[in-house]
Amino acid sequence: MAFPHLARTDLPAHPTTLGGYARLVREIAADRDRWEPLVRYDALTRWYARLETGPGYEVWLLSWLPGQSSGFHDHGRSSGVMTVVRGELAERSLTAGGEGSRALAPGGLRVFSPGYLHEMVNASLEPAVSIHLYTPGLVEMNQYPAAAGAAADPAAADPDRHRVH
Ligand SMILES: [Fe+2]
Repeated sequence: MAFPHLARTDLPAHPTTLGGYARLVREIAADRDRWEPLVRYDALTRWYARLETGPGYEVWLLSWLPGQSSGFHDHGRSSGVMTVVRGELAERSLTAGGEGSRALAPGGLRVFSPGYLHEMVNASLEPAVSIHLYTPGLVEMNQYPAAAGAAADPAAADPDRHRVH
């Protein structure tokens, strides 16, 4: 740089790789003082709040009361990283390899790429909280009918641009 004294060194480094995004999600998840005061539970609708934005990514905090579900959805052009920080969530996914299901508990990390179809539900008896990073930021999310066969048909999509999962 022609003027090295002008180069800022005190700015936080923003992640640019999936590994970097995963590290950021782990860091935020471990920093309970940062997200815990923000958690709210809403019996009428699933609750979420934006935790952080950066160049090309957004991080959201979501809460799930028992029985609350995202429904089957994709994330438009976004890739993502997610982790559960309280309680437990059940995930059903639909890929070219078939349908999968798994339990998501604190400590685990899920990474997905554009086109990933899944549904998350709090099937437990306790509230749950999760953190989701989307890159690029989530601007499009399509909801699909719950039936697995219908979920594979993008023509059945119902665009919903005002929610995150
Ligand atoms: Fe999702």
